[in-house]
Amino acid sequence: MKTVGLIGCGAIGTVLAEAIERKLVVCDELVVFDVDRAKAEHLKAALNFPVTIVESFEELLQRKPEVIVEAASQQAAKDYVPRVVAAGVELIVLSTGALLDLDVDLSRVHVPSGAIGGLDAISNAALAGVEEVVLASRKNPRAFEKNNTQPEIVYEGTAEEAARQFPRAMNVAATLALTVKPARVKVKVISDPNVERNTHEIVLKWKFGEMFLRFANDPHPDNLHTSALAAWSAIRLLQVLLEQV
Ligand SMILES: NC(=O)c1ccc[n+]([C@@H]2O[C@H](COP(=O)([O-])OP(=O)(O)OC[C@H]3O[C@@H](n4cnc5c(N)ncnc54)[C@H](O)[C@@H]3O)[C@@H](O)[C@H]2O)c1
Repeated sequence: MKTVGLIGCGAIGTVLAEAIERKLVVCDELVVFDVDRAKAEHLKAALNFPVTIVESFEELLQRKPEVIVEAASQQAAKDYVPRVVAAGVELIVLSTGALLDLDVDLSRVHVPSGAIGGLDAISNAALAGVEEVVLASRKNPRAFEKNNTQPEIVYEGTAEEAARQFPRAMNVAATLALTVKPARVKVKVISDPNVERNTHEIVLKWKFGEMFLRFANDPHPDNLHTSALAAWSAIRLLQVLLEQV
């Protein structure tokens, strides 16, 4: 009997639950918790798969899931990650910005590549020595509730500060920072009327070469900050973890 726990039944949680229903991820039961019970009810009603709704995070832990997926918020991750780690449960964290501020054993905490990728090559290069990493993220002004008609830089600075200032939009910066640390990531966030897709460009110079990676992701219709790729990265990681537990 394999149980998956899901914290957060929003855009990512829903895509993940649908993948479980379609048996892309093989488990026997999905236990879900959302502070907004209506979100959990909505997800359960849409699925033809056994879903148990719980009233609290504590109840979720009591159900002894093999893997928990956090797809809620940076605050939720700050609150729950230490308690999941203490319970010895495998955990996938989407709100990766929270991990920058937490001082916990991350050996059972798994970070999906999220809205970007190529983290294998980037972490390989980081071992040898990274000279410079720059992330430029462009989203349509709608995502920032702006209406600028020319591209406008809305943030320029460190990855840590980007993840703090844009807790819903810039977890990619945190994921990259966790991958190259202790090297630092320079981040630019651009409100750009010329893009419909969430576009992330990474330029990396390292000891033995250079990399340029570009991701142009369709935004999720329910959450313009979230890219479908982020949900699919969690699905893939969940598949792998469930084969191991
Ligand atoms: N790592 C990445 O590349 C990446 C990419 C996209 C999104 N994200 C992050 O993943 C998380 C989920 O994204 P989403 O698009 O599904 O968000 P969403 O807003 O669509 O859904 C989040 C859900 O979590 C619930 N929630 C919020 N706080 C909670 C708490 N404390 N306990 C339980 N439930 C809670 C909300 O009610 C909501 O239903 C966000 O933090 C988002 O920023 C990360």
